[in-house]
Amino acid sequence: MNIVVTGSNGRVGGALVDHLRGAGHKVIPLCRQDLDLAHLPALREALESLEYDAWINPAAMSSPDQCERDPALCHTVNATAPALMAYVCRKRDTYFLHFSTDYVFGGEETGKRGEEDEAHPLNFYGKSKRAGELALLSSGARAAVLRVSWVYGARVPAFVEQCMARLQNGERVEAIADKWSIPTAMPDLCRWVEHLLITQPSGILHACPSGEPVSWHGIAVAVHEIMRKNGLLDGDAEIVPTALADAGHFLARRPIHTAMENQRLSSLLPHPIADWREALERVIGANKRG
Ligand SMILES: NC(=O)c1ccc[n+]([C@@H]2O[C@H](COP(=O)([O-])OP(=O)(O)OC[C@H]3O[C@@H](n4cnc5c(N)ncnc54)[C@H](OP(=O)(O)O)[C@@H]3O)[C@@H](O)[C@H]2O)c1
Repeated sequence: MNIVVTGSNGRVGGALVDHLRGAGHKVIPLCRQDLDLAHLPALREALESLEYDAWINPAAMSSPDQCERDPALCHTVNATAPALMAYVCRKRDTYFLHFSTDYVFGGEETGKRGEEDEAHPLNFYGKSKRAGELALLSSGARAAVLRVSWVYGARVPAFVEQCMARLQNGERVEAIADKWSIPTAMPDLCRWVEHLLITQPSGILHACPSGEPVSWHGIAVAVHEIMRKNGLLDGDAEIVPTALADAGHFLARRPIHTAMENQRLSSLLPHPIADWREALERVIGANKRG
């Protein structure tokens, strides 16, 4: 398959390019230097002139605080650009896979959110991503939105990798203990995407592991336990719970409960989706061997 991946220098995009190439696909990676998604005529030209069987868009203005500072640019990149991608993919009858976020939810209630649950974003990032979803859904394109959360296990380090590095250096870890979601291992996400490119479902899919919602503090505690179990650490560590309200550096308001239910994705995959803790053990275990 010929596949375009925009945002190819990002955490998700970079890993997808590597994985899909490894799986034998011909991938055209497009980073911001190749194609600025805020420049819509250039995007349209690329969409119409390149040869591809599927277009994957993990590119985004992904920092909620940056989106708060520049809502207009955030709307162009996160909503208008994917709308244009969906429009041209429909005209070409080409499959379009777009990435979105658990931040489309307001996160007021405990528990897990299903695909049909009401979106109620609290900040410009979530609002722009929701606008991108709605544009795709109303475009008539053969297209799916993959909502993801707390992705780790890619080349671009995330909270899990930062946590591992601090623990390895004997440094204390401070982590928010009153905000819940479910962390997603990039190797699993890559395999799901590879499968979805074959089956090409439409609509919204929650692409996350199974298991109970966890806080960043809970993840840090799990990382410590798993590192010890794998002989990557000895001794105790100081893992300090903090409160979201005390995170003074956040500009954008964050939703509290955004863990997602994965039943729809699960019904489309040939194998059951593992619990987040099992996936974390696999990723950290691979680190030990590597
Ligand atoms: N990672 C997570 O935990 C997480 C959680 C929830 C949702 N998501 C969603 O998953 C998707 C992938 O996220 P990610 O973690 O891979 O984000 P990321 O690491 O920030 O990557 C996003 C990529 O988009 C590119 N980009 C931004 N503005 C652009 C523009 N104007 N033109 C072209 N490219 C542009 C960035 O380019 P530069 O490298 O040049 O900045 C970056 O490489 C996004 O839709 C995000 O909203 C991710």
